[in-house]
Amino acid sequence: MSAPLLQLEGVTVDFDGFKALNDLSLSLEPGSLTIVIGPNGAGKSTMCDTIIGRVRPTAGRVLLRGEDISKLREDRIVGLGVCRKFQTPGVLVGLSVIDNLAIAATKDRRWWKSFTLAGPAAGRERAEQVLEMIGLADRRDVLAGELSHGEKQWLEIGMVVATDAELILLDEPTAGMGAAESTRTAQIILGLVGRHAVLVIDHDIDFVEQMGGHVAVLHQGSLFKEGSLAEVRSDADVASIYLGRPRA
Ligand SMILES: Nc1ncnc2c1ncn2[C@@H]1O[C@H](COP(=O)(O)OP(=O)(O)O)[C@@H](O)[C@H]1O
Ligand SMILES: [Mg+2]
Repeated sequence: MSAPLLQLEGVTVDFDGFKALNDLSLSLEPGSLTIVIGPNGAGKSTMCDTIIGRVRPTAGRVLLRGEDISKLREDRIVGLGVCRKFQTPGVLVGLSVIDNLAIAATKDRRWWKSFTLAGPAAGRERAEQVLEMIGLADRRDVLAGELSHGEKQWLEIGMVVATDAELILLDEPTAGMGAAESTRTAQIILGLVGRHAVLVIDHDIDFVEQMGGHVAVLHQGSLFKEGSLAEVRSDADVASIYLGRPRA
């Protein structure tokens, strides 16, 4: 059996005595969909920060394809095929949708900082594919700054996809979206699974239901319950405490 794509092994993150993550273990297979839910403050974003190298574990390890990445810098981890989409859209507003995707597809991580168009031709073909995947073909030449909130979020998912990351981390991709936009987001995410492993953080249970997949419930920095949505839902503690909470 090959190693899982990502493993958290007893990860603890201590912020001055407060354990945002507490002996958290979790494993992700290549091409899988994992949904992490849990109330505000459960440690979901800290888990993402730890995977991507922005926060260091106080104890435990993060393994990517069996290799310990817990001491690597974020840019190295991104280079190894892990990419994260933040809660706030980070698109380049002065460029068109297709140019944003083309820059992302060049895999030159400096595009996050530099606004130059040098070299995106290399990523054109991939950009056109991703444009279809995120359903923005009719918005191809529109400036990213003119997109609706939902469209910006989809573009940002597309920019992560365009990097060809093997593991995609999405922290609350439906934040600020209405029901129709959330449904479309779920469809976009389902279209990525298989080619990419996707770790989605959300606490909107309706959104989770539209995706299926493996659900992990985080509570006070630890893994509280893991299983299918049905299994997690049928757990009395989870049902009464964690599910159906209003969105923050
Ligand atoms: N840099 C930090 N320093 C101190 N405490 C933090 C820091 N980042 C997060 N926390 C705390 O850790 C807990 C988990 O936060 P977070 O991971 O953002 O939760 P979630 O994303 O599940 O809402 C919260 O109580 C938060 O206040
Ligand atoms: Mg969070």
